[in-house]
Amino acid sequence: MTMQEKINQLLKLREEARLGGGQKRIDRQHSQGKFTARERILMLLDEGSFEEFDMFVTHRCTNFGLEKEKYLSDGVVTGYGTVEGRLVFVYSQDFTIFGGSLSETQSNKICKVLDQAMKMGAPVVGFNDSGGARIQEGVNSLAGYAEIFQRNILASGVVPQISVIFGPCAGGAVYSPALTDFIMMAKNTSYMFVTGPKVVKTVTNEDVTVEDLGGASIHSTKSGVAHFAVDNEEIGIQTIRQLLSYLPSNNMEEAPIIPNDDPINRLDEALNAIIPDNPNKPYDVKEVIHGIVDNGEFLEIQPNFAPNICIGYARFNGRSVGIVANQPKYLAGVLDINASRKAARFIRFCDAFNIPLVTLVDVPGFLPGTGQEYGGLIVHGAKLLYAYGEATVPKITVILRKNYGGAYCVMSSKHLRGDINYAWPTAEIAVMGGKGAIEILRGKEIAAIEDPEKQAEFVAEMENEYREAFANPYVAAKYGYIDDVIEPRNTRFRVIRALESTKNKRLENPAKKHDNCPM
Ligand code: HXC
Repeated sequence: MTMQEKINQLLKLREEARLGGGQKRIDRQHSQGKFTARERILMLLDEGSFEEFDMFVTHRCTNFGLEKEKYLSDGVVTGYGTVEGRLVFVYSQDFTIFGGSLSETQSNKICKVLDQAMKMGAPVVGFNDSGGARIQEGVNSLAGYAEIFQRNILASGVVPQISVIFGPCAGGAVYSPALTDFIMMAKNTSYMFVTGPKVVKTVTNEDVTVEDLGGASIHSTKSGVAHFAVDNEEIGIQTIRQLLSYLPSNNMEEAPIIPNDDPINRLDEALNAIIPDNPNKPYDVKEVIHGIVDNGEFLEIQPNFAPNICIGYARFNGRSVGIVANQPKYLAGVLDINASRKAARFIRFCDAFNIPLVTLVDVPGFLPGTGQEYGGLIVHGAKLLYAYGEATVPKITVILRKNYGGAYCVMSSKHLRGDINYAWPTAEIAVMGGKGAIEILRGKEIAAIEDPEKQAEFVAEMENEYREAFANPYVAAKYGYIDDVIEPRNTRFRVIRALESTKNKRLENPAKKHDNCPM
């Protein structure tokens, strides 16, 4: 062959690889409202930045006559490129080749990406669209999954790992995404479950559809497995780019600082009127978040799962922070099992990746009830407590209103090494709310009053007395448990200053193999 012929051969092979499982299967993929593996990568990465690995890989299986059916790249497209100029590793399962099913060689390709990402200190984005283990390959496919799991585990806390589910993801295949930091699902075209509807029917006799068992809406509301449920793939990929912009590339780096044009001393007058006079009336904590962060931009994570706590990323003067805020609009912002585990995992991610935490507190306490206790609220609540207590990143806390009982200790208090703890003048910091306290302290006296009117008058008077004495920020301030009582409209400026003062924070936990946090 002449040199030109050899070059032509290369170009032909490339062309063949780009066609995946063939035009017919690509058309089918498109007709289902899905993009192909390569299209997804090209949409994610900066234009022209994609460098592909292992295009010429084919499977090695000879079972069931498979040796006669080979496709270049073997069901996954892998490589690296940039997002906003920063290195990102990618893999993207190609459903047009054996339904994206995982072969030994496909696993090798994914493992190469994970190994490279760890070595180079860059995030990994994996698009999942697969029928699971390549049935013809048997145990070699299972081995391939386990090799990926092992690398997901080792990469955890070293580089951010993002799993995007844009198709089927079932059986043991779900455990790779579950080991990563963020899971995104596309509504109507993706699903995740350990066992599908048919097995469910056999074992538990339940009739359930794919969508109701493991669709994006279930996992983004009920199970909390998915962090994002998006209407379509384009929106999803833009959201991934946005998410990456808040994150450092690895655990040894800081998140990028974005030029900020929102004045740091901007006052938000609306905040001085946001807390209703009636302590039982809700307000939307997201208005507080939008009012204080740069340009009101907030990327909320898991917005529809445990909405009684609100988590997500924003910036203060161009610096990324993780925000954790009780949401009085839902269940009065109470801490329950789901809110605790949602926030705990978020805090641990932020701490692992040097992202400071800003906590906005308005919490009546932990949710009572057998449902919660039987579900292990003790352990799940402890996760949140543990996550705050172990975190060594800068921790800035603003108590907006209620901060009662155990929740006071948990929510980034001074005693859990909170660096700067502020309270608004509307803060109520006490062991419990007035009503509960009066019932316990003065219950017998109350019961002894026979006239219901007089009884109500007495209770109101006592409650008022209790609130005057305890439900304010000044008792805690007297002890130095909060550093200052601040005017709500000044919160942005005060938080920016607090973050500025803590940016060189050095704090280390005792040496250990690893911790034994509640699970
Ligand atoms: C090999 C597979 C495959 C698989 C799909 N295909 N899944 N090939 N191994 N696991 C092939 C099909 O033969 C077909 O080939 C092409 O991919 C597209 O599949 P269709 O069935 O035509 O597509 P669709 O109707 O969209 O259905 C998609 C599907 C279905 C729901 C995913 O294919 C399916 O149920 N697949 C099997 C799922 C499964 O049981 N996997 C094993 C799970 S156990 P052609 O040539 O026609 O294009 C597991 C254990 C992992 O994963 C454990 C890790 C610890």
